Amino acid sequence: MRAKDFIAVLAVAAFANAQKPLPPMPPLANKTAVPLHFGFVIFPSLTPLDMFGPMEFLIGLSIHYGNVTGKMHMSILGAENTPSTCAPPNSQFGMGLSPTITFDEYRALEAGKFSYGKGAEKGPLDVIIVPGGGGTRGNVSREIAFVKEIYPSLKYIISVCTGSTILARAGVLDNKRATTNKRAWPWATTFGNNVTYQTGRWVKDGNTYSTSGVSAGGDGTLGFFADVYGEEVSQYVADSAEWTRWTNASYDPFAERWGVVTGR
Ligand SMILES: *[C@@H]1O[C@H](CO)[C@@H](O)[C@H](O)[C@H]1NC(C)=O
Ligand SMILES: *[C@@H]1O[C@H](CO)[C@@H](O)[C@H](O)[C@H]1NC(C)=O
Ligand SMILES: *[C@@H]1O[C@H](CO)[C@@H](O)[C@H](O)[C@H]1NC(C)=O
Ligand SMILES: *[C@@H]1O[C@H](CO)[C@@H](O)[C@H](O)[C@H]1NC(C)=O
Ligand SMILES: *[C@@H]1O[C@H](CO)[C@@H](O)[C@H](O)[C@H]1NC(C)=O
Repeated sequence: MRAKDFIAVLAVAAFANAQKPLPPMPPLANKTAVPLHFGFVIFPSLTPLDMFGPMEFLIGLSIHYGNVTGKMHMSILGAENTPSTCAPPNSQFGMGLSPTITFDEYRALEAGKFSYGKGAEKGPLDVIIVPGGGGTRGNVSREIAFVKEIYPSLKYIISVCTGSTILARAGVLDNKRATTNKRAWPWATTFGNNVTYQTGRWVKDGNTYSTSGVSAGGDGTLGFFADVYGEEVSQYVADSAEWTRWTNASYDPFAERWGVVTGR
């Protein structure tokens, strides 16, 4: 190739890879008292996307808005200091997820007012996210007890999929509206006292967000972002992840798909 042609090829390549200046970031709607410390409750046979959908967007928020929100912290909480598999029950097809802190270690920090101990510098949890999965049909008594204890001190709680059954059994959903996985509807809606289970991608009632099956956790988390940090901020995080966001919480084609009938 002659030098002249080579330069022409380079010029075309440079043009093809150009990018306009990035659009400005929308400001946070609320800079005071924004939640900073997020916890995920893990247990054996949780569904990975239930956890990683919300986590992905929280990480996105921390990347783009960390300089405004201050330091965001993430804790992974488990009953035992051993990895919890995300393989379904009676399967090995999945990986282990390790807690950063156990429920008992967190209880000790709370008793000592976060003055000393593992993770003390993170302070109290503001929000916990409870995934679902096959494991919720097993013995989750320790997870239920922890959620029941901690809920009164939280700013918000988010359940994903059948994680709603842990919230319901902890009494968190009593007298509230909530949703859960549509395919597992008959089983998942047997829990709690006077819970009005309804269809929807996610349902907000007070400081409680319950989201529908698996992938809905990501959209529900973005709905939570819209409420707490601002609609444009939520869209910015979604667009950065090239995620087609579901903005209508009530729109739920999966209710029809799985033949859900509401009403108690
Ligand atoms: C935070 O960083 C973004 C770029 O990532 C910048 O546009 C914004 O002005 C910064 N905000 C503050 C308060 O420093
Ligand atoms: C569930 O687990 C708890 C804590 O490990 C244990 O005390 C309890 O006996 C278990 N319940 C059943 C029904 O196995
Ligand atoms: C059940 O919860 C609803 C709110 O979702 C409330 O209006 C109603 O009074 C509750 N019923 C009872 C019997 O507590
Ligand atoms: C915004 O911050 C104020 C002051 O702390 C608080 O009262 C309000 O509830 C916050 N709004 C949201 C949507 O979080
Ligand atoms: C949201 O979805 C519900 C249920 O399908 C529908 O009735 C409502 O019109 C939709 N809202 C908007 C703003 O599109």
